[in-house]
Amino acid sequence: MTTDNQHLAIDRVQELFFEEYGTMPSVTARSPGRVNLIGEHTDYNEGFVLPIAVPFDTAIAAIPEDSSTIRVCSEGFGHTIFNLNEDPSLSPLWARYLHGVGTYIKQNGHQLKGWTAYIASDIPIGANLSSSAALEIAAGLIFCSVNNIEADMKQLAFAGQFAENSILGLPSGIMDQMACAFAERDSALLIDCKDLSMTPVKLPEGASIVVMDTGTRRELAGSEYADRRQTCQEIARELGVPSLRYATHSQLSQLNPSHGAKLKRARHVISENIRTKKAVEVIKSQNIFELGELMTESHQSLQYDYEVSSPALDEIVHTALKSEHCYGARMTGGGFAGCAIALVNREMVSQFCAEILENYQSPALQPAESPTKVFPVRASAGASLIQ
Ligand code: GLA
Repeated sequence: MTTDNQHLAIDRVQELFFEEYGTMPSVTARSPGRVNLIGEHTDYNEGFVLPIAVPFDTAIAAIPEDSSTIRVCSEGFGHTIFNLNEDPSLSPLWARYLHGVGTYIKQNGHQLKGWTAYIASDIPIGANLSSSAALEIAAGLIFCSVNNIEADMKQLAFAGQFAENSILGLPSGIMDQMACAFAERDSALLIDCKDLSMTPVKLPEGASIVVMDTGTRRELAGSEYADRRQTCQEIARELGVPSLRYATHSQLSQLNPSHGAKLKRARHVISENIRTKKAVEVIKSQNIFELGELMTESHQSLQYDYEVSSPALDEIVHTALKSEHCYGARMTGGGFAGCAIALVNREMVSQFCAEILENYQSPALQPAESPTKVFPVRASAGASLIQ
């Protein structure tokens, strides 16, 4: 991961392809990772999310195959070969993301030829920066390109979600894939996860978004995630609404207290949807202070009501909020480990980063696997093919 805006994976992937296969690739695709500014754990409740793409990519360089074989060499994961006609669950875990995307496109009526590829990535895995969604979207672009299918980015987002839900058994929502596919430079993307309508929201000029990587990493399988998702469905059913998007605090207060912690899970979703819509308004009016406050409130709600934060995420958010240059901070993505974000006075970004590196102490309760990193990010553009 870098601290500037160079797309290093893109720079090196074609070279690595050439070294591996002795010929130049005929197509290269890239997809960024993402951070979510606000609107967490709302996507699978038909709610609102506000992600940006970060300037770190997963890049795939490829040539078509005549058969339905996929042959891939991936930085950090080595080689694998699989056939699109085989059962995806026979592929190595990481390759199932590719296989799952291909399976979805095939199921939608396309005959698919395979490809030979090299994959390079600057997005750390398990850091809540959506490395998997980036891999899925980049792979989707490669599938379309080598098979002369016009890429429908929404379909590719569904293909990625299909790979996670149906092939890997991870019940994730649609935010990450939509963010990777549709993000716009210098804007956050408001996504209404009910109908997937999107509104780019130009970010305020006086503030920078700083990603703070605690160096902690989460497990792939998300039993806690599945549990939260199920709870939301259960409470929506109790309230007689199609999803928590339609629920209100006053309806929730009428439910039987015997539902216990489930009530505060639902309270998070209801309050987070309100905060996300408010965040869009305050961004439009350039009210950075209020945006920061909403982000911090979102963190508290995730920490105490939804309970998906972690000792390291809480500690780095706490450290950020102690800085006079910080307007607000929160965990981002699914939670439990990885990265948090801070909204910081643009003039004071380097000072802020130095303060975090100096003052943040990794909690003994959740030891880091890699060193703490802090990097300001400019909102980047979504996935694309590179000529
Ligand atoms: C993960 C999932 C997303 C979303 C976030 C939480 O990143 O993949 O669909 O639910 O968690 O907002």
